[in-house]
Amino acid sequence: MKILIIGKGYIGARCAKEWPDAVVSENIISSVEDARKVLDKVKPDAVLNAAGVCGKPNVDWCETHQMETILGNTVLPILLAQACSERQIYLLHIGSGCVFYGPSPDPAGWKESDFGNPTAVYSRAKRANDLVLSALPKVGIARIRMPMDWVPSSGNIIDKLAIYEKIIDVENSLTVVEDMVNVFRQLLEKRAEGIFHITHPGTIKH
Ligand SMILES: NC(=O)c1ccc[n+]([C@@H]2O[C@H](COP(=O)([O-])OP(=O)(O)OC[C@H]3O[C@@H](n4cnc5c(N)ncnc54)[C@H](OP(=O)(O)O)[C@@H]3O)[C@@H](O)[C@H]2O)c1
Repeated sequence: MKILIIGKGYIGARCAKEWPDAVVSENIISSVEDARKVLDKVKPDAVLNAAGVCGKPNVDWCETHQMETILGNTVLPILLAQACSERQIYLLHIGSGCVFYGPSPDPAGWKESDFGNPTAVYSRAKRANDLVLSALPKVGIARIRMPMDWVPSSGNIIDKLAIYEKIIDVENSLTVVEDMVNVFRQLLEKRAEGIFHITHPGTIKH
C-alpha cells in the first residue's frame, strides 16, 4: 500500500520513521490545485494528513493568529479531502481530543459521538473540521491527545512538562506515539471511515 504523508512536522516525521515505504510531502498546500498536484505526482492508495497549525512556541499562539489557525486546521483538510474525493483516494486526517474540555458526562470518558465544547481558537478550528469531514465517505478522523513518546520533540508531552514554568492541573487523555503509529497504519489499510479516539484508557494529571 502506497501511503502519502502530508506534512513533516512532529507526527508526520514519526510516522515516516516507522513506515519506510511511505512518501512524505513537505509542499505547502494553499489550494485544491496544490493538493491535486501532490496526489497526481505520488499517486498514493491512501493519504495521512499530518499537516496543521498548532502554534509556536505553543498553542497559545493560535489565540492571536486566528486566521492562520483556521486556514491550517479547518480549510487545509477540506482542500485535501476535495482532491482525494475526486480521485477516490482514502484520507486519514489527524484530529484532536482537545475538542472536549472538562469532565466527560460518562465516567468512561468522552466518546467519538459526543458533541465537542471547544473554546480556544485551535480547538474550535479542529472541531469545525471534524464536523464537515465526518460527513464524507472515504475519510477517517483519528483524534489524538497529548502525545507521549520516547523520541524527544517539542510536541512530546514529556519535553513540554520538563520545560514549562507553569502547568495547569487538569485530567487529560494521553496518546502513546508508538501505539498511535500502528493504529494509524491499520486505519489506513482498512480505509476506516468515521471518527476514532486514539487515546489510552484512563486519564493522567500533569
Ligand atoms: N502534537 C500534539 O500535541 C497534537 C495533539 C493533537 C492533535 N495534533 C494534530 O496532529 C497534526 C500534526 O501535528 P504536529 O504535532 O506534527 O504539528 P507540527 O510539528 O507543527 O507539524 C505540522 C506540519 O504541518 C505543516 N503545515 C502547516 N501548514 C501547511 C500547509 N498549508 N501545507 C502543508 N503543510 C503544512 C507544517 O509545516 P511548517 O513547519 O513549514 O509550518 C508542519 O511541518 C495536526 O493536525 C495537529 O492538530 C497534534
